Amino acid sequence: MNLTQASAVVTGGASGLGHATAKALTEAGAQVVVVDLPDAAGSTARADAVSELGENAHFHPGDVTDPQTSADAVAAAVRLAPLRAAISCAGIATPGKLLSRKGPLRAEQFMKVLAINTGGTVSLMTAAAAAMQDNDPADGDRGVLINTASVAAFDGQIGQIAYVASKGAVASLTLPAARELARHAIRVVTIAPGLFETPMMAGLPDAARESLRAKTLHPPRLGRPEDYATTVIQIIANPMLNGETIRLDGAVRLDPQ
Ligand SMILES: NC(=O)c1ccc[n+]([C@@H]2O[C@H](COP(=O)([O-])OP(=O)(O)OC[C@H]3O[C@@H](n4cnc5c(N)ncnc54)[C@H](O)[C@@H]3O)[C@@H](O)[C@H]2O)c1
Repeated sequence: MNLTQASAVVTGGASGLGHATAKALTEAGAQVVVVDLPDAAGSTARADAVSELGENAHFHPGDVTDPQTSADAVAAAVRLAPLRAAISCAGIATPGKLLSRKGPLRAEQFMKVLAINTGGTVSLMTAAAAAMQDNDPADGDRGVLINTASVAAFDGQIGQIAYVASKGAVASLTLPAARELARHAIRVVTIAPGLFETPMMAGLPDAARESLRAKTLHPPRLGRPEDYATTVIQIIANPMLNGETIRLDGAVRLDPQ
């Protein structure tokens, strides 16, 4: 699919995997609407991160837990060019056990992770599919929806109850969404990253990062955001990739903790 006549929406695109994806899409010629949280007062960090991607990147500040954010971002993208790709990278990884020293897992904490990681993904899929169904097919596709799960959806570790639930849901909905949207010639593919060098991972202590790196068999390193972005471009380019969750993990398998 030629992306020079296309627009895309990337959530979580001010940082990490989403930022690398927005970069790759702009380099491929697409107009990219980048959704991320608004900058805190006195900061322009997220707006700056998007503006460094050049004039084909357009910052759309908003919270993905509000479905209007995705609807407005999609509308902004469609004004630029037909929407061909929608990629959900917005996410949080708040840890939490069912029973911790601080007490039982709080329902609000659990639901917040679900609202961002799963609800935000579904909002973008819904808004994007509604817009894509009116596209003329390009190389057989009207558009492609790409979600981000995690290897935690399959090898969930102790202390990640909300996160694994949110990512398991994203992995599970991939096939039924692809089945449903096939009649519109819209593909749905989910990437399940292993351990990637992003600000989300930077919060871990060095020892924990090194232990995770050591579990990544080959290549023997953490993933780079560019590895993820390359996969997004490959998914868009390959018309047979549909309804699948792809592990992108250097053969890592996570231990119980
Ligand atoms: N880094 C990894 O090792 C790894 C592994 C597996 C899965 N993932 C997943 O990949 C995705 C991207 O993670 P990352 O590592 O790039 O993290 P990151 O923290 O660098 O980027 C996440 C972005 O999402 C944004 N965001 C968070 N909540 C939001 C909200 N409510 N509305 C809008 N934007 C919001 C953040 O501001 C941030 O810019 C996440 O879904 C994460 O769970 C990451």
